[in-house]
Amino acid sequence: MASEASLVAMVVALALSNALLVTSESEYNKVKIWPMPASVSYGHSHLYLSNDFELSTNYDSGLLKDAFNRMLAVIRLGHIIEANFSALHLSPLLRGLHIVISSSNHQLQYTIDESYKLTVPSPENPGYAHLEAQTVYGALHGLQTFSQLCHFNFTSRVLEVHMSPWTIIDQPRFSYRGLLIDTSRHYLPLPVVKKVIDSMSYAKLNVLHWHIVDSQSFPLEIPSYPKLWDGAYSPSERYTVADAAEVVSYAQQRGINVLAEIDVPGHARSWGTGYPSLWPSKDCQQPLDVSKEFTFKVIDGILSDFSKIFKFKFVHLGGDEVNTSCWTITPHISKWLREHGMNESQAYQYFVLRAQNVALSHGYEIVNWEETFNDFGNKLSRKTVVHNWLGGGVARQVVASGLRCIVSNQDKWYLHYLDTTLQEFYANEPLTNITNLKQQKLVIGGEVCMWGEFVDGSDIEQTIWPRAAAAAERLWTPYDKLAKNPREVTGRLAHFRCLLNQRGVAAAPLAGQGRSAPEGPGSCYEQ
Ligand SMILES: *[C@@H]1O[C@H](CO)[C@@H](O)[C@H](O)[C@H]1NC(C)=O
Ligand SMILES: *[C@@H]1O[C@H](CO)[C@@H](O)[C@H](O)[C@H]1NC(C)=O
Ligand SMILES: *[C@@H]1O[C@H](CO)[C@@H](O)[C@H](O)[C@H]1NC(C)=O
Ligand SMILES: *[C@@H]1O[C@H](CO)[C@@H](O)[C@H](O)[C@H]1NC(C)=O
Ligand SMILES: *[C@@H]1O[C@H](CO)[C@@H](O)[C@H](O)[C@H]1NC(C)=O
Repeated sequence: MASEASLVAMVVALALSNALLVTSESEYNKVKIWPMPASVSYGHSHLYLSNDFELSTNYDSGLLKDAFNRMLAVIRLGHIIEANFSALHLSPLLRGLHIVISSSNHQLQYTIDESYKLTVPSPENPGYAHLEAQTVYGALHGLQTFSQLCHFNFTSRVLEVHMSPWTIIDQPRFSYRGLLIDTSRHYLPLPVVKKVIDSMSYAKLNVLHWHIVDSQSFPLEIPSYPKLWDGAYSPSERYTVADAAEVVSYAQQRGINVLAEIDVPGHARSWGTGYPSLWPSKDCQQPLDVSKEFTFKVIDGILSDFSKIFKFKFVHLGGDEVNTSCWTITPHISKWLREHGMNESQAYQYFVLRAQNVALSHGYEIVNWEETFNDFGNKLSRKTVVHNWLGGGVARQVVASGLRCIVSNQDKWYLHYLDTTLQEFYANEPLTNITNLKQQKLVIGGEVCMWGEFVDGSDIEQTIWPRAAAAAERLWTPYDKLAKNPREVTGRLAHFRCLLNQRGVAAAPLAGQGRSAPEGPGSCYEQ
């Protein structure tokens, strides 16, 4: 992250230049950028993008070139650029984007610097727009912002940047800005997953939480235990190891980490299709059998295979909604419990902590759902990030205990609740009631969750968007720049939702419930 001091210095320098520094909500509404950057100033002139608008950079990597070419495709929006510049006497011309990146390290580590500075020149001095960033991933965010400044002009038939000169200095508020997808309740084909990743990058979300398996199906190939994916819904609703690696690489090229999850010991019935001895019994199939060494060998095998594919610092081990009655009513397990002097809640703790140790042994830090914290928070590894979901107020307790937290309270950030409004998504503040600065830093961010019971490839995009975008701004934009009344951002968010539509993302209208259809004829911007 850019230091606070340097950001302040840059903002002061900006304020002294002649461009208008955006400070009020009415000015924000003219600036159609989503999520709103930390600092923006703009002018009143048009620039035209040259037909051979080019990338010039000190950074030699395919990753940046590919991202630049994708950005060009996205700003063309399928239009044919057919102007004859010399005949139309179009000027001033923007010839390209000059990108300077300080660090040559292009590993997408957690808490990597995502800041950038973007300037688009004034018409008196055109030539190149400039983008500076510490890391290539900051530059990717800068490209996304630049893409939102460009428009196709139907008179001149060229691409333009309005309101130049621009100076944008930006960095995220939280380092973890997630979206959960669930490929167990419904299988999501790879092109659907990739489209979701593309759309995340438009809103500057940076973690795809992949809830891969659950009770209903086990779609992923696990080489160490090759019968696990017998638990897939059908032979074709599966991911190979190479597929998973491709998802990780595709996401990484867009600045997005993949957080893989296996949810244990509950939510795991599908594991037993291939290995029935993981079930307590044929008639009582979850949670996983706590009494067998084999259970932990399988977890070890899965996490060993994971560590070769999922390179993110964290793995998610679930741990939520564990109903232990199969343990107490299954004779061999209740005998084991007695022999080990444990009741069922102690066995739940034993299971979670042992799974944590397996994850640690593979080099991961751990994310667990909040029940683990609520039941035995002081026993969890100090490398645990507690994932809130049940409601508000948990983050405050988690960080007070010194652990880190991700906020996903279901009343505000669960996307399958279609009656949760855009305004509620926007207004959900992860630091509510947390005033201590050190504790605030332990809230690493938040995540909106797209559970899969009621979505598949046919409707996932319109259920995610536009409400996930409201949360994305909450997680990106500095607190003092966020709208106090979410209704103030409606116009700008409508604009972003139409931009998503133009880019081929099926984002639903703002009016009505989540995922609603247009209510009648009309402009995208009015719905
Ligand atoms: C563009 O316009 C110039 C000046 O009118 C003309 O010389 C040139 O042939 C035109 N180019 C194309 C590709 O039409
Ligand atoms: C499009 O370009 C024409 C011709 O250069 C210009 O007069 C007009 O203002 C532009 N339209 C918009 C919406 O900026
Ligand atoms: C817990 O599991 C048992 C055995 O499968 C089942 O009978 C019971 O209804 C479950 N309890 C809850 C609260 O889901
Ligand atoms: C399990 O044992 C612990 C420690 O004795 C006790 O605090 C807890 O209430 C017991 N839980 C149940 C469900 O019996
Ligand atoms: C924050 O604190 C207020 C006042 O104590 C309380 O009413 C509210 O429920 C709390 N909110 C959360 C999310 O903890």
